[in-house]
Amino acid sequence: MKFPGVTATVSLLLTVLPTVGGAPTSTNGNAAANPNLRGSPELVGLLPGQKENSKTGSYLDFESVENPQPIRGSKGGDDPGPRDYSYERINSDKYAPPGTDNGATINAQWPMGLSHNRLGLDKSGWARQQNTDVLPDAKEMAGVDMRLEPAAYRELHWHVAAEWSLVLNGSCRIQAINEDGETFVDDVQAGDVWYFPPGVPHSIQALDDGVEFLLVFDQGSFNEDNTFLASEVFMHNPREVMAKNLGVPVSAFDNIPDKELYIFNGTPAPKQIEDQNVTTGAGIIPQSRSYSYHFSQQPAHEVAGGSVKIVDPLTFPIASNFSAAIVTVNPGGMREIHWHPSSDEWTFFIKGQGRGTLFTAPSDATTFDYRAGDVAYFPKSNSHYIENTGDEDLVFVEVLQAPKFTDVALGQWIASTPRQIVKDTLNLSDDTLSRISTEKQYVVAGEPKSSQP
Ligand SMILES: *[C@@H]1O[C@H](CO)[C@@H](O)[C@H](O)[C@H]1NC(C)=O
Ligand SMILES: *[C@@H]1O[C@H](CO)[C@@H](O)[C@H](O)[C@H]1NC(C)=O
Ligand SMILES: *[C@@H]1O[C@H](CO)[C@@H](O)[C@H](O)[C@H]1NC(C)=O
Ligand SMILES: *[C@@H]1O[C@H](CO)[C@@H](O)[C@H](O)[C@H]1NC(C)=O
Repeated sequence: MKFPGVTATVSLLLTVLPTVGGAPTSTNGNAAANPNLRGSPELVGLLPGQKENSKTGSYLDFESVENPQPIRGSKGGDDPGPRDYSYERINSDKYAPPGTDNGATINAQWPMGLSHNRLGLDKSGWARQQNTDVLPDAKEMAGVDMRLEPAAYRELHWHVAAEWSLVLNGSCRIQAINEDGETFVDDVQAGDVWYFPPGVPHSIQALDDGVEFLLVFDQGSFNEDNTFLASEVFMHNPREVMAKNLGVPVSAFDNIPDKELYIFNGTPAPKQIEDQNVTTGAGIIPQSRSYSYHFSQQPAHEVAGGSVKIVDPLTFPIASNFSAAIVTVNPGGMREIHWHPSSDEWTFFIKGQGRGTLFTAPSDATTFDYRAGDVAYFPKSNSHYIENTGDEDLVFVEVLQAPKFTDVALGQWIASTPRQIVKDTLNLSDDTLSRISTEKQYVVAGEPKSSQP
């Protein structure tokens, strides 16, 4: 029990309980553990930040609170239920929003943990996705989180959308052939990226430790279940035609799969990548148009509250409309308030926890709490920040549909606007204005939670 008030609360509740609406006490006698208890905020106690002016909007850590209450400053009231505490404990900014939230924005959050998981054959892996079915306003990009066990394949396939990928764990071998007949094969590991243009057929095979990767598509309605699979194209052309096309007898197809494979176990890839180097008269895809970029080898740009690594067509030309940043935010730090003038932002949380407020013109704002495995989506020019709300580093990837990674930072904008204009508009003091940096911060430092009172 974290909060001083709670011990007293429990004994108080125990004496009060038997008379409260027939609510049963739990069998171990721990009344506070019973989620259906009616308890007024006075009885259960509030977190310190709940009583402050609601516009201060401090992060409320409900995770270890037995009976969180939807109260901010003078607003809200107690919640007798029905409810399930697990959602409220990890979404305190939804349950007791900062007083600065207003109106209704789009929903800018999808936890992959709520996605239906598609399981591969014979324990070979799985894939789960986010698209406009679950986040209707995320129109420019969609995402897939996929795991392949050692030697498992994502079946040979192609699709209408362009595919950009970040390897999250392990390693895999990827291969493809383009419309000119140029071939490609490479091994990529955690932190590397790849890109396959629309229509270019490719496959992915996990190496020794298996692999988990993120796929981002340039269509919000992309559906990972609707790709063109090698097994299906063989199954759905007349065998006489297939035989004529490939110059083989019809009987050559006697043993082809009669169902799609999608994710399935395979023969381990040869250790030497050269053993899988197939070339046509067109040769191999040159390095300047490579479908992979060993982003894991690129050093991070260190900033006050963490670090930033940017990959865009300057370093990875083939992905001509994908720009991304991997952002690390130290405990207490924050990706500063900013917006992207040229693109919507699709974000995936890789590690840790954070929160962000989406501000939409003219006056709507919603604060979301994010965890590793969540997708966030911020439309073009809509401001947002990501504050680390946990005790460990927060790591996420921001993906844009743009030929360059760009943002406008609120702090830089205000600091580099003539002071008189800002003072006439915002009534900020000279002292305040002299503290704001004219330089972009990317990630600002802050006090870690553990060192706060
Ligand atoms: C991959 O996941 C395994 C199992 O959780 C972990 O031990 C390993 O450190 C991870 N590797 C990377 C590169 O994240
Ligand atoms: C593949 O083979 C071609 C032609 O022999 C060669 O130029 C190229 O370097 C090889 N690539 C790899 C990755 O081995
Ligand atoms: C990049 O993607 C955006 C969003 O889909 C689109 O509006 C824009 O035309 C694309 N730019 C290029 C150069 O393809
Ligand atoms: C600006 O703030 C000061 C207090 O610091 C207040 O006295 C003044 O009325 C404000 N001006 C406007 C225009 O709101």
